[in-house]
Amino acid sequence: MADLDDIRDGKDYGLSEGQKNEGFFLKGSANLDWGMKDRLSRIFNPETGRSVMLAFDHGFIMGPTSGVERIDLSIVPLIPYADCLMCTRGVLRSLVPPTSRKPVCMRSDAGTSILTELNHNVIVDVQDAVKLNVSAMAVMVAIGDPCTEATTVANLYNAVDAGQSFGIPVMGVTAVGKDMARDARYFGLASRICAENGANIVKTYYTEGFEKVVACCPVPIVIAGGKKLPELEALELAYKAVQSGASGVDMGRNVFQSSKPTAMIQAVSAVVHKNLSPKDAFQMFNDLK
Ligand code: R5P
Repeated sequence: MADLDDIRDGKDYGLSEGQKNEGFFLKGSANLDWGMKDRLSRIFNPETGRSVMLAFDHGFIMGPTSGVERIDLSIVPLIPYADCLMCTRGVLRSLVPPTSRKPVCMRSDAGTSILTELNHNVIVDVQDAVKLNVSAMAVMVAIGDPCTEATTVANLYNAVDAGQSFGIPVMGVTAVGKDMARDARYFGLASRICAENGANIVKTYYTEGFEKVVACCPVPIVIAGGKKLPELEALELAYKAVQSGASGVDMGRNVFQSSKPTAMIQAVSAVVHKNLSPKDAFQMFNDLK
């Protein structure tokens, strides 16, 4: 209880200075509420404005694909080197140590797998995201897919409504249908649609002309790594993306399917946060164990 007999008058009002009003470092996020900004600042490093998200949600559509058969053995050792973890709630609860102290971007939609037809998804209850203390919810949107576009855009829209209620940002994940051209026009359109529907972050793919994709998307973009590439090529991909304005990567297979995943995630992080050239990052990869 306050000591009522010792209430000292304030002395230092700093009258010569105005109150410091910090801007917010992240693109398109200045008008968000405090909780949203707090969560986004856990995902994106406020000093670099970028993030290395480690994606290991693949099992929710692919099952135990190479590199995620035993998440306790292959992924958990990588956690210290990631800025943010992207996984499903099942893996989060069963395998990710709660003592990791890393922000989580939870895969928050699911429905169909590679064995049927992808993208017929529903979203998780936001209360579960709150319970799990996640820093963002990731929801896939299949722009241009006649069967699932409307439902997945509605999923994103509903997730944004739910996220707004609890201060949880939503990451729109652009799925690329078989018939879609993987070019800047398509990724620009899909990313913009995610942002227009309220996504606070967009995950898409790097392509030629990526600076245009970034320029017309009003919120931060991170790129997925995609299929496993030789390490130097994956580092080049990350480098080109951030140099074109991406706010980081959400990378999975090019890390956990690497011959040296711990070295790879550190090399990717140096590219993302320190602008290390792909050549130097590859040297770093080779030098690390
Ligand atoms: C795919 O189902 C997931 O959304 C992945 O998280 C995403 O594609 C990033 O992983 P990768 O770098 O392996 O493409």
